[in-house]
Amino acid sequence: MVLEKLINNYFKAITPAQVVKNIVCHDDLKEIMARSLFTENRTKTLLLGGPGTAKTLFASEICKKMKNWYFFDGTGTSGRGFIDWMYEHQNAEGVVIDEIDKLKRNEQAMLYNFLESGQIDYQTSKVRYHFRMEKCKVIATTNSLDRLSKPLKSRFAILHIPPYTFEEFVEIAVRILGENYNLLADVSKAIANILWNTLNCKDVMMLDHIGARIKQNDRAEDIERLVNLMIKYGQINSNTEYN
Ligand SMILES: Nc1ncnc2c1ncn2[C@@H]1O[C@H](COP(=O)(O)OP(=O)(O)O)[C@@H](O)[C@H]1O
Ligand SMILES: [Mg+2]
Repeated sequence: MVLEKLINNYFKAITPAQVVKNIVCHDDLKEIMARSLFTENRTKTLLLGGPGTAKTLFASEICKKMKNWYFFDGTGTSGRGFIDWMYEHQNAEGVVIDEIDKLKRNEQAMLYNFLESGQIDYQTSKVRYHFRMEKCKVIATTNSLDRLSKPLKSRFAILHIPPYTFEEFVEIAVRILGENYNLLADVSKAIANILWNTLNCKDVMMLDHIGARIKQNDRAEDIERLVNLMIKYGQINSNTEYN
């Protein structure tokens, strides 16, 4: 009993609270995430979901709020080599590898051992790296499993973030449009409603594109017109694509 109580308190205190506070997401998914983060064990988690399902948001919040967690952008836009970066962060409590499918083949291969045992061995004619990251947890993200090799996939617990429901889409609209563009909740709800129900657009990013173009003195019909124009000329992913 006492133990159960302790466990409950522990998870209640950390689950939805700090780390994933600003993210609209199923509570039970938050629970797995909390268990993946708040443990002494070396967990390896792969977040799989379509574009705009808050994978990067999740991952960057973790790095912002957790001590000694670091973020690597797999698209390589930081200009840093992944191996050099790992070497520099070898004391990390955890690393995020955003868009892991964009890593080069040899970088992906290097991860096999790392995920298995924490050992990193990487050798080219120019560099030699041999080091261990025994305690390091990993959160990786990807839109698709297609570009990940079998051995890489098999080393992760893969969590599939489902596409948003209409209720979630509305909640996200209220949050994004309210926080970023000061729109009233009713206006945000109306925009979400036209996009989803009339135009069959389920793209969270579209909410932001529209919010950014709204002026203070816009009336309801102006906003409706804008939404329609954005759809008319925009290219919409009406279905979540796993590209
Ligand atoms: N569940 C959510 N809660 C709050 N904001 C969200 C959510 N999903 C998406 N967003 C918004 O959409 C943007 C894009 O999300 P992002 O994390 O980049 O998606 P992904 O990496 O899965 O493609 C975020 O910056 C955020 O503003
Ligand atoms: Mg992303």
